Amino acid sequence: MLVSEREQLRENIEQWVAQYGSDRSALIPVLQEVQRKYHHISEYVMQVVADTLNIHPVEVYGVVSFYSFIGLRPKGRFIIRLCRTISCAMQGNNRIARQLENDLGIHFGETTPDGNFTLEWANCLGMCDRGPAMLVNDRIFTQVTPESVHEILDECRKAFGAHTFQGEETCPL
Ligand code: FES
Repeated sequence: MLVSEREQLRENIEQWVAQYGSDRSALIPVLQEVQRKYHHISEYVMQVVADTLNIHPVEVYGVVSFYSFIGLRPKGRFIIRLCRTISCAMQGNNRIARQLENDLGIHFGETTPDGNFTLEWANCLGMCDRGPAMLVNDRIFTQVTPESVHEILDECRKAFGAHTFQGEETCPL
């Protein structure tokens, strides 16, 4: 990372700390902001966040490694999270999982080489009576079918052609 990028990152973190407060309670919201903008939490970020909040970096690492929505590795522009909890499992989430893996050519826990899609499992998304449910970034989809997986991915791909994403995009659907 270039020095100017580091400075920009530090500036962003300081702004978020000013917004959310400079104590421990700001830790998760600040990490979520970093995740939204930069798609992952690097060691440098953990150090800066720890310095800014005046806590030990190990504490930051503990939070990052505990919460699956906050990642240590870079993630795709579209993060697809398929519910794996019992109701969705009974409503055929395995067919959706297979379709996603086939269409994207990756397994769960992986990101496509072009950096556009990451596939992850999620626990109950609160849509149990309308499963299978999945999230694409912050947009929820219910009663997903293998056919609708095609449509959802196509819409995301079309969005890539329409403009360049800047890190804070939401699902275009
Ligand atoms: S079990 Fe999937 S949304 Fe609740």
